[in-house]
Amino acid sequence: MEEKIVYDFDTPVSRLGTHAEKYDARERFFGKADVEPFWVADMDLPGPAFLTEQLRERIGHPMFGYTEQYGKVFEGIQWWMKNEHRAEVDPAWISLSPSVVTTISLAIQCFTEEGDSVALLSPVYGPFFSCTKINKRRVADVPLAVENGKFEIDFQALEKALAQPGVKLMLMCNPQNPGGRAWSFQTLEKVVALCVQHGVILLSDEIHSDIVYAPATHQSVLNIPAADEIALVAHSIGKTFNTSGLQSSFTFIKNPELRSKFRHAQNRIHAGDVNLLGKVALAAVLSPAGAEYKKQLVAYLHENTKQVCARLNQIDGITVMQPEATFLVWSDFRAFGDWQTVFKKLIHDANVALSGGSFFGPAGEGWFRINCAHPRAQLLPAVERIVSVF
Ligand SMILES: Cc1ncc(COP(=O)(O)O)c(C=O)c1O
Repeated sequence: MEEKIVYDFDTPVSRLGTHAEKYDARERFFGKADVEPFWVADMDLPGPAFLTEQLRERIGHPMFGYTEQYGKVFEGIQWWMKNEHRAEVDPAWISLSPSVVTTISLAIQCFTEEGDSVALLSPVYGPFFSCTKINKRRVADVPLAVENGKFEIDFQALEKALAQPGVKLMLMCNPQNPGGRAWSFQTLEKVVALCVQHGVILLSDEIHSDIVYAPATHQSVLNIPAADEIALVAHSIGKTFNTSGLQSSFTFIKNPELRSKFRHAQNRIHAGDVNLLGKVALAAVLSPAGAEYKKQLVAYLHENTKQVCARLNQIDGITVMQPEATFLVWSDFRAFGDWQTVFKKLIHDANVALSGGSFFGPAGEGWFRINCAHPRAQLLPAVERIVSVF
């Protein structure tokens, strides 16, 4: 029997000199080049060594020409979805994509017209708003309610939004970024039913779906039969394996008509593929070895998020959402004044760069998102600095 690898997430690995946005854009975004970064949602934790080895093996060959979409990539995706998400997928449903945001933007372009509206539940990952607006569509923003420290959907407000004639597409973040909500099957069924009733296409962005903390579970829209005719489900290995720079995403569309429209939109701008190293990565990590890495990673991240929430909850005035999924902690600092003042204090007094809540829409103002995918030796002292400043 092969010896089990035990991954080391505790030892910090410097990213300086790698052009990591989280580090190299600090001066530009925060006006302080040495502030410790807990913003961009990628990890300061290493991916698995077997991935680096397979990439190294490939770059040992000096030709990086056009690459076909080979079977191992699709077999890996199919295996992963069955093993990790109980979803049986037909490889014919899969379209490769450079990124989930590319998929979102293309879905907006091919399933809506200029002037139409796109529904979303906010606060939510900023590009849900920006992709809609840059494509000259309107945002039908349905703010989430907070109940017992968790986001919940206001179904009356959602139904009202979906019933508007101009709303043609809904973007659903499943699990939810920034609040780390793992939506239940019943909740998703209700969303799907409303979309079907009002003729709205549903895009379920499941990029965070591998990082879910028991007893919560991820429910893929792929497993909701009523969604078969109306849904696109987008996923990627970017979050789980820290490969966002390799741009390797994939989208499932069961309905042949929607699929052919989407592929046509991809073909029009030649955006239906993943680069060569991204394909190597997909085939490598969507495997039993990748599942073992993910299991250990999720255990580490769960402990990190629990420790961060427990500590921040001790400060009077700060409320945090204990995430059921994602390595992100959504924290309410509104008791400490306007967000600009808090932002400055975080940067200059606590020396931490967090994601400011207005990136996630107007409902996020005054909140900050902390990225917990760091070795504890980096993360916990940063949290102590926040505690001492506030
Ligand atoms: C919900 C969500 N979707 C998409 C992305 C970005 O995905 P990609 O890099 O594949 O465009 C992120 C990154 O933080 C995200 O949180």
